[in-house]
Amino acid sequence: MARVAGRPAESRGDLELVTRVARWFGAAARALPWRTWPRDPYRSLVSELMLQQTQVSRVLEKFDAFVARFPTVRELARADERDVLAAWSGLGYYRRARLLHAAARAIVETHGGHVPRELGALMSLPGLGRYTAGAIASIVFGRPAPIVDGNVTRVLLRVSAKPLATDEAMGWAWKRSEGLATLAHERGVVAAFNEGLMELGATICTPGGPRCGSCPVAELCAARARGEQGSIPKPKAKAKRKTLVCEVVVVGDGAGRLLVERRGVGGMWGGLWQAPTHEHAGDSRARGLGRLLGLAGVRVGKATLEFVHITTHRRVLFRVRRVVVGGASGLLVAGRERRWATREEVAELALSNPQRRILLGED
Ligand code: ADE
Repeated sequence: MARVAGRPAESRGDLELVTRVARWFGAAARALPWRTWPRDPYRSLVSELMLQQTQVSRVLEKFDAFVARFPTVRELARADERDVLAAWSGLGYYRRARLLHAAARAIVETHGGHVPRELGALMSLPGLGRYTAGAIASIVFGRPAPIVDGNVTRVLLRVSAKPLATDEAMGWAWKRSEGLATLAHERGVVAAFNEGLMELGATICTPGGPRCGSCPVAELCAARARGEQGSIPKPKAKAKRKTLVCEVVVVGDGAGRLLVERRGVGGMWGGLWQAPTHEHAGDSRARGLGRLLGLAGVRVGKATLEFVHITTHRRVLFRVRRVVVGGASGLLVAGRERRWATREEVAELALSNPQRRILLGED
């Protein structure tokens, strides 16, 4: 194989890729509140956990308030879990908030309150898989760690014109990212290269209509050369979502308070607050709903609001009724963690997005 300056010819293309992505990121990166210079390891940790499964736009709505409430690893580690969940409210996937809290505690106990720099130590923290640990190791500490998520995989598949579905390509993408991160580290640009790949996938090399005219690596892109950028990655067969029906009764006491209860800790929306809700698979009518919900003596009428909420694995139909009870007593039954709360108090609770919509009329 031809070698130039000690490198095989194929990696000259890679070097060009690394250099262009890193330079482009330096010029085109969106200004985001965790992209400080130098990077603050704690803010990066918080943002990377928030960004798992959540769009940047939604994270932007929550990030500043979260780090203002818990400004350091130590303050987060010391916090009550309920306060952490409440500050996370609106971001969904609350397991991540519990894991972030546990990670902060582990950092205080095992690493003297400093976010560790090495990939292995980061990966041993709760909530940090190979991707998040790699992002922090490379972006914050300049370590030669690979990163692969859906955005990165799409960019890499297109550049190499590999006609695979994203989930079939993971093994390949990790190997490819590892080679590129090593090269980028040798050139001293691994942070800008790795974050630049994510940014390229998020802003230019998007799933639907890639904007190749603005892409810094368009000339290096094999999919573009063949006109295949629209069909790579291959679409994956859609898994059918299970349907779940949530029968909800919003109970008011006529004096501005609402009845709320806390879900058990396991499962979907575990530990979050809600209006009394009965779940079923859609095969039963909501007969005897008052009794099922421990709302003895409450006459539950017809649903006045219905909407569908889509989660990764489920299609959840919410049917919502509203009732006002005369006396507020008798509904705080044993076996359910319940309380009466004003609208302001409800707004401070950790709620799933659909329950926030139901209880507060917000999305
Ligand atoms: N998604 C996950 N991490 C990110 C980052 N650091 N920048 C932009 N998008 C991201």
